[in-house]
Amino acid sequence: METLQGIKRTHKCGKLSETNIGEIVTVMGWTQNYRQLGALTFIDLRDISGIVQLSFSEELNAEAFKKAQTVRNEYVLAAVGKVVKRSSINPNMKTGQIEIQVDELRILNTAETPPFAIEENSKVKDEIRLKHRYLDLRRPDIQKNLIIRHRISQIARNFYSDNGFLEIETPVLMKSTPEGARDYLVPSRVHPGKFYALPQSPQLYKQLLMVSGMDRYFQIAKCFRDEDLRADRQPEFTQIDLEMSFVDTDDVIDVNEKFLAKLFKEILGRDICLPLKRIPYKEAMERYGSDKPDTRFGLELCDISETVKNCGFKVFSGAVSEGGSVRGINVKGGADKFSRKEIDALGEFVKTYRAKGLAWLIVGKDEHRSSFAKFLTEDEVNAVISVMSGEAGDLLLFVADKNPIVFDSLGALRLEIAKRLDIIKKDDYDLLWVTEFPLLEYDEEEGRYKAMHHPFTALMDEDVHLLDTDPGKVRAKAYDIVINGCEAGGGSIRIYNGELQQKMFKTLGFTEEEIWDRFGFLLEGFKYGTPPHGGMAYGLDRLVMLLTGCDNIKDVIAFPKVQNASELMSNAPSFVDKKQLDELGINISK
Ligand code: AMO
Ligand code: AMP
Repeated sequence: METLQGIKRTHKCGKLSETNIGEIVTVMGWTQNYRQLGALTFIDLRDISGIVQLSFSEELNAEAFKKAQTVRNEYVLAAVGKVVKRSSINPNMKTGQIEIQVDELRILNTAETPPFAIEENSKVKDEIRLKHRYLDLRRPDIQKNLIIRHRISQIARNFYSDNGFLEIETPVLMKSTPEGARDYLVPSRVHPGKFYALPQSPQLYKQLLMVSGMDRYFQIAKCFRDEDLRADRQPEFTQIDLEMSFVDTDDVIDVNEKFLAKLFKEILGRDICLPLKRIPYKEAMERYGSDKPDTRFGLELCDISETVKNCGFKVFSGAVSEGGSVRGINVKGGADKFSRKEIDALGEFVKTYRAKGLAWLIVGKDEHRSSFAKFLTEDEVNAVISVMSGEAGDLLLFVADKNPIVFDSLGALRLEIAKRLDIIKKDDYDLLWVTEFPLLEYDEEEGRYKAMHHPFTALMDEDVHLLDTDPGKVRAKAYDIVINGCEAGGGSIRIYNGELQQKMFKTLGFTEEEIWDRFGFLLEGFKYGTPPHGGMAYGLDRLVMLLTGCDNIKDVIAFPKVQNASELMSNAPSFVDKKQLDELGINISK
């Protein structure tokens, strides 16, 4: 192995071009591949900026030529030489016009044959890639994602600083205040039997910073949630978190729209039109069956409950009489696009969302085909078609059930059909706010209300009087930013009155003792002059996914975790020494 003594890198590989022809340059990087052609040898040298071709000629420099014969893939090289015009131009390569005629080659390090080739769009299995993540991260596409991630963080830092927000760090070892996901716990050595929790978000600290008069805060914060992983979820993820004093919903939305506009301009060169659309939660559910609607395409839901509430098809009339609904989607011209078998498959698809079935009707010119029309009168069938704006050739699909199941299954079906028909334009960006979320949702399993966003969210002024009489109807000053059907961030205006906050905790089923034990420090703080405040947090990882077009969150995180929350490269989590456990006073029960 050779050293860098006496040489210094002058250029990055991918930055060289015809303007450098004639210059003596020094480049350093990894061997992408090598080719030996008689008295000539070529090496493609790769660094973070790209690839450049090194050429070695036995005739011009026998020593360098000889050394080049020993180079293998992923060897780390330094090369000093002259930039020349290539005899055979490679139009597919950014530096394809030129090559470096090498005078001096140094082998800075050797490498074993890697377990997979370092190339874009690698089809190698996740497990192998993540086990050798340092090699996977040599791939240009993953490097590009991390570069964009860096730029997004940088833009966020600059934007919020420029707008009067202070970057303040909040503790990572904090008190466990579970509500939402499960906490990651950290045992305390000094206080045997006691635990810290890792933050699920800096929520309480940022609110107390507003009590402190810090006025505007932001932080790029690591958050930890012990919950099931999905393609857009990691147990450890990053938020761009912010909070503002003396604001209402419009103020938070305003400043954040400007941030998003800047982000889209700088990263994608796109202008987004402000103000963004706002859709109240109720409308989002009724039209799209989702609180994070993708509105890049139609296929909107349509309520036919009124039309079928007295019909002879018990599946329909029964659902309505039990307080549910019957809703449908009109797949325009869908009769030709879906076979009977495919419609049956859609029926199986909605069952994974707890629907009991999928009723269908193909509108004909005179006669219709349907799984349920035989139970309806001709007038009823025509009324259904008319409410659905059905025309000959349309495929109408229906689910009848309790509302949450109808929305869930049709919301998912809508996306599934759009995917199968390939009607979503990939490079379209659709940004909108969903507002006026319900404050609470009833948890059937636990038999109590839960906060839909979190327990610190303020009530809409118009709905405060309902908290005692009809808590399920209260709407919150909560808002989510939805980009292409993905919840990229969310937040709310907060309760800033201690008594109302206590009442909220009681509505959620906490006893007086639990309230003070868990949230006493917040309620104490609220006694000393709390300004009206509110804020939000973006999922940074999700923003990077959206702006890079990745559909897996792992591809935008340097060292991500897999499905079972382990990290394959280091093998975390792992067993620890008995001595460490003894110090913590921990016994592992079988
Ligand atoms: P919330 O829980 O909605 O709000 O989180 C804010 C945003 O963080 C992202 N996110 C995640 N990203 C990756 N993996 C996860 N497991 C994960 N969980 C959440 C989402 C989400 O929109 N304290 C409040 C914010 C506030 O009220 O100011 C909060 O944490 O993009
Ligand atoms: P059945 O009479 O059970 O064969 O059902 C007739 C049609 O109604 C079939 O296409 C079923 O898939 C459909 N179906 C059954 N339950 C539901 C439901 N809850 N919502 C919508 N369609 C349903």
